[in-house]
Amino acid sequence: MTKRQIHLNAFMLFCAAPITRLSWVYPKDKIRHQWYEMPYWEEIAATLEEGAFDAMFLADNIGGYGNSPENIRYGNHFPLLDPTVLAARLAGKTEHLGFVVTMSTTFVPPYMLARTMQTLDHVTEGRIAWNIVTSSNPHEGYNAGIPLPAHDERYERAHEYMDVVYQLWDSFAPGAMVMDHDNRMLNDPSKVQRINFEGKWHSSTGPLCVMPGPQGRPVLAQAGASEAGLTFAATHAEMVFAPAGTNEQRRNVIAEIRKRASDAGRDPYSIKMVFTHGPIVADTTEAAKVIQAEVLARPGYEADVAALRSPAGFDITKLPPETRLSEILDQVTGIRGPFEQAVQDDDPTIADFAKRFRNMAADDRFVGTPSDVADQIETLIDFTDADGIQFAPTYYAPDCFRSIVDQLVPELQRRGRVRTKYEGKTLRENLLG
Ligand SMILES: Cc1cc2nc3c(=O)[nH]c(=O)nc-3n(C[C@H](O)[C@H](O)[C@H](O)COP(=O)(O)O)c2cc1C
Repeated sequence: MTKRQIHLNAFMLFCAAPITRLSWVYPKDKIRHQWYEMPYWEEIAATLEEGAFDAMFLADNIGGYGNSPENIRYGNHFPLLDPTVLAARLAGKTEHLGFVVTMSTTFVPPYMLARTMQTLDHVTEGRIAWNIVTSSNPHEGYNAGIPLPAHDERYERAHEYMDVVYQLWDSFAPGAMVMDHDNRMLNDPSKVQRINFEGKWHSSTGPLCVMPGPQGRPVLAQAGASEAGLTFAATHAEMVFAPAGTNEQRRNVIAEIRKRASDAGRDPYSIKMVFTHGPIVADTTEAAKVIQAEVLARPGYEADVAALRSPAGFDITKLPPETRLSEILDQVTGIRGPFEQAVQDDDPTIADFAKRFRNMAADDRFVGTPSDVADQIETLIDFTDADGIQFAPTYYAPDCFRSIVDQLVPELQRRGRVRTKYEGKTLRENLLG
């Protein structure tokens, strides 16, 4: 049986250190452009396109890690700029690469979302996807001036939100814009209809003032992990950023989403399941381990623990670093999942957990020669029944992606697991075609 093609994405945020803290610190003589300069992004996008990646995923939120003085000081998701604007710029500098931008169903009104995404579909010439998030960080609520609703209510609102957005996208029928010069008719009004949506949380009269883009509608991505989140993914998502966990847990989650999609009348394999990892590849295992040690040593305790404050939901930075997570689990009110998982796995101290929390470089399996890392990727994808992997940079992103595209991607291409060139024109065709 031929093995399934593996899709490749890059995981980024429009900030200095997308996921691995202090990844902006690097030998100064090797820094060609800073993270806020456009040539930095254009170089990354060109590199990804050379590797025939499906998309650059731009995660986002409007609360950072809580924006404490420590997070501001170290640059933990602060500053954090708007990814939709960056995607528009980069689409103009590329031909094939897709862009996944993040916007929240809790903070962006559905009409604005429908309009921005459909505009982006035009501006990117059919290479845009929306990462649908319901948001989980109370600081986003403080910034937006909209209190963050409780978890399951956020998903209830999000389902209704999707109804409005689908109706808005359909309110402007394909072909309604006729551009009939002779009859002085730009749009055929009979094909552009109000929706008059009145829901429990959302309302909009419509019609949307943007004609359908090249993809008809943007590709929909999502990353739910909870009961409500998995149902949402199975109902709406075309690409799922699958949660972390052991390979068994990941296999179960993927099977569960595919089952729920099938129960909802969808082809379970029409959803692309993608994992996020931060490989470090070098010519020898030893050389890769040297880079890993540098990356892990860079932040230090204060920067690492600062990033835990908002997910913990209380000021974890004041506790002794040697405290075991099990001793404080009761107080965790933010994102409990990773804390619960860590207590179950090995009950680390706060210091150990802070070091590896959202630090991709901490995963030894993805550190080594291109051949070692390709083995791990193949095993992960085949065992879990997933479809792809997105690479998060562990150090200066232009160089990190360069090493992935020069060393790891050719190894995966030799094995026939990733494509060597783009086949479709739009993101939808390349990813789902
Ligand atoms: C790879 C990945 C990327 C994510 N990106 C974002 C993001 O950009 N913005 C955000 O608010 N949440 C993001 N999340 C969080 C998810 O949207 C979701 O809230 C989280 O996985 C918890 O699942 P739940 O909402 O079902 O509880 C991401 C999660 C994963 C696994």
